[in-house]
Amino acid sequence: MDAIEAIRRRRSVRKYTGEAIPREDLETIVDAGRLAASGGNRQPWDFIVITDRDMINRLKVAAQWMEDAGAIIAVVLDPSSRWWLEDGSAAVENMLIASTALGYGSCWLEGYTLLREEEFKAWLGVPVHKRLLTLVPIGVPGEWPTKQKKSLEEVIHWEQY
Ligand SMILES: Cc1cc2nc3c(=O)[nH]c(=O)nc-3n(C[C@H](O)[C@H](O)[C@H](O)COP(=O)(O)O)c2cc1C
Repeated sequence: MDAIEAIRRRRSVRKYTGEAIPREDLETIVDAGRLAASGGNRQPWDFIVITDRDMINRLKVAAQWMEDAGAIIAVVLDPSSRWWLEDGSAAVENMLIASTALGYGSCWLEGYTLLREEEFKAWLGVPVHKRLLTLVPIGVPGEWPTKQKKSLEEVIHWEQY
């Protein structure tokens, strides 16, 4: 699947079959995050790949539907870096697209992650001065939703707004 096709196909998938995901695919997905654009090339990110069922079951307090994900990637950022939010967002989007290209469903989960940030950081051993931007569950899709999108005509402007 080429990049444009993966971008067009990507949707937030919240239903998974529970199947495991090969380590190689998880590495490919995190590698896509690692290669994202980054302000000043600071790359202020770390990625925790969680496949342990007990931990996935704990983290699902953020969203029950995550329980059948094959893995959850916790995206950790260093907030002392000026563009940490932008960099983290770019990395997450890259991983969503890479997951799609490999045939997996994924979703950006902010949900209650931020409300429980300190608790989740402690569970995952994240240093106190780092931020947990989001969790990205990845799984073999149990469904592929369609979502209404604004049309290109609605949002594209040529030369002036
Ligand atoms: C910053 C951000 C936070 C999000 N948080 C959640 C969330 O907490 N729970 C959830 O189910 N989806 C979450 N999403 C996914 C959005 O709901 C989804 O992207 C949007 O409905 C558009 O659907 P699509 O991704 O299928 O195109 C989030 C997306 C973004 C970009």
